[in-house]
Amino acid sequence: MSDYVLEAKGLRKVYVEGPVTVEAVRDVSLQVKPGESVAIMGPSGSGKTTLLSMIGCILRPTRGEVIIEGRPVRWEEDDLSRVRLESIGFVFQSFNLFSALTALENVEVALDLRGIKGSEARRRAREMMEAVGLGDRVDFLPRDLSGGQKQRVSIARALVNRPPLILADEPTGNLDSKTGHAVIELLRDLVVKEQRSVVVVTHDTRMMNLVHRVYHLEDGVLVS
Ligand SMILES: Nc1ncnc2c1ncn2[C@@H]1O[C@H](COP(=O)(O)OP(=O)(O)O)[C@@H](O)[C@H]1O
Ligand SMILES: [Mg+2]
Repeated sequence: MSDYVLEAKGLRKVYVEGPVTVEAVRDVSLQVKPGESVAIMGPSGSGKTTLLSMIGCILRPTRGEVIIEGRPVRWEEDDLSRVRLESIGFVFQSFNLFSALTALENVEVALDLRGIKGSEARRRAREMMEAVGLGDRVDFLPRDLSGGQKQRVSIARALVNRPPLILADEPTGNLDSKTGHAVIELLRDLVVKEQRSVVVVTHDTRMMNLVHRVYHLEDGVLVS
């Protein structure tokens, strides 16, 4: 078994659009151990989303390697869906909830994708909703929840399958600062309690006190 949940080696991403090429991420390497929480900070356009997408097996690197739980990712569809389902929970800035589904059903979707259905899915989803402090909101639709509550639902969805690696791209970007802080604390506490690992992308300098390590990304280059 590998010492690391995540290893990125020499990651590079070049976007080509017609005559324009952008080198969004340049030769980035990092390692994350079980139970470790890491923040990636940096100005807008510095390559944070590009880096997180490659780590999350959503975007294929131009060069370099992503190793999840000791296994190098092969950039083929069957391998990618397996890694995303089994190893990674993703939290987005814009929550990405299904508007026609209740909060509970939004969490159940993640279980369904792993073949967990019916009463077992319902039970686990409820338990996770309790853990994020929304036990009394299970039947609400997203439109009837506040921003902070919606982000809690999306955290519940990301964590319900107990993936070893949680990735969050500016999870507090759409929240006021107090709510944002509470969401990050929740994320960190859940992760620490269960020895999971988290990589969180953020602008919020207060996050520095909530994680084990902070990396700064500047023009696609990682500086610690
Ligand atoms: N799909 C894309 N096609 C072309 N250029 C892109 C694409 N996505 C991002 N970029 C460019 O890559 C750079 C890094 O973007 P991004 O990773 O979104 O940074 P951040 O998340 O830090 O704001 C920016 O210059 C951005 O314009
Ligand atoms: Mg971004």
